[in-house]
Amino acid sequence: MSNSLHTSGDIAVSVQHLGLTYTTTIDRRPTLKSRVKTLGRGTKHTRTVRALDDVMLDVNYGSVLGVVGANGAGKSSLMRVISGILPPTQGRVEVFGKVSTLLALGVGFSPSLSGRANVHLGGLAAGMTRDEIADHFDEIADFADLGEAIDAPMRTYSSGMYARLAFSVAVTVRPDILIVDEALSTGDAKFKEKSLEKIKELRSDARALILVSHALGTIRDICNEVAWLDKGRLVQRGNPTDVVDAYSQFLQVGKSAAIDEDI
Ligand SMILES: Nc1ncnc2c1ncn2[C@@H]1O[C@H](COP(=O)(O)OP(=O)(O)O)[C@@H](O)[C@H]1O
Ligand SMILES: [Mg+2]
Repeated sequence: MSNSLHTSGDIAVSVQHLGLTYTTTIDRRPTLKSRVKTLGRGTKHTRTVRALDDVMLDVNYGSVLGVVGANGAGKSSLMRVISGILPPTQGRVEVFGKVSTLLALGVGFSPSLSGRANVHLGGLAAGMTRDEIADHFDEIADFADLGEAIDAPMRTYSSGMYARLAFSVAVTVRPDILIVDEALSTGDAKFKEKSLEKIKELRSDARALILVSHALGTIRDICNEVAWLDKGRLVQRGNPTDVVDAYSQFLQVGKSAAIDEDI
């Protein structure tokens, strides 16, 4: 599809003093005492989780930002706010281009329909025309390498097959900004290799990419910059070697173990 309209080095995403708080309402089972007090309605209890706290970050066109951090660090929350799925509680996010989020596309698939039908629907949802989808269908199907399963309902797909098709659609759409939130971890080694080649291709075509992954070896190899989140805060941000080393030490894992891990 079209070449990027952006120039490498231009700002793609700017995250300023970003805060996000989730508020969940929990229904408590009424006790006898509270039932008397509230006439049997029970009590509502709210729980708040501060998922992001004063995060400052930017991403340039022509580069890949890696995001690392333990489970619950706030990585997916940050991706949801950048994608526009969730509004920030504090601060702001400016996005200078069209974002495609791998998870969002994957979630849009209808399990009862075939892979083929979902490619058409997913392409339309991502703003492709019917002709563009038809022109690129073979390319998408070949890349996903699903064989005859492309005509089977997606509910019969393994998570790896599902991820392969989602990634193929996402990269073929050629978004300005592509966010991949741990969506490649279920693919096999061959697919991961191909995916990394695609990511490099998009980077050299002046797209901006954000890659959330626990595969520290890959993060180190492919990213221009890495951000480390912990408990909703940005702990460190800088060149991949420095940040991955610091994060590995924090995890107390040997460097060799981290490098052996794949995407
Ligand atoms: N929809 C939600 N409602 C309430 N809390 C949430 C929701 N999603 C995530 N959280 C909480 O926000 C924090 C950050 O989660 P998340 O962004 O998913 O972290 P990560 O992707 O780094 O594992 C965690 O404490 C998690 O339990
Ligand atoms: Mg996550």
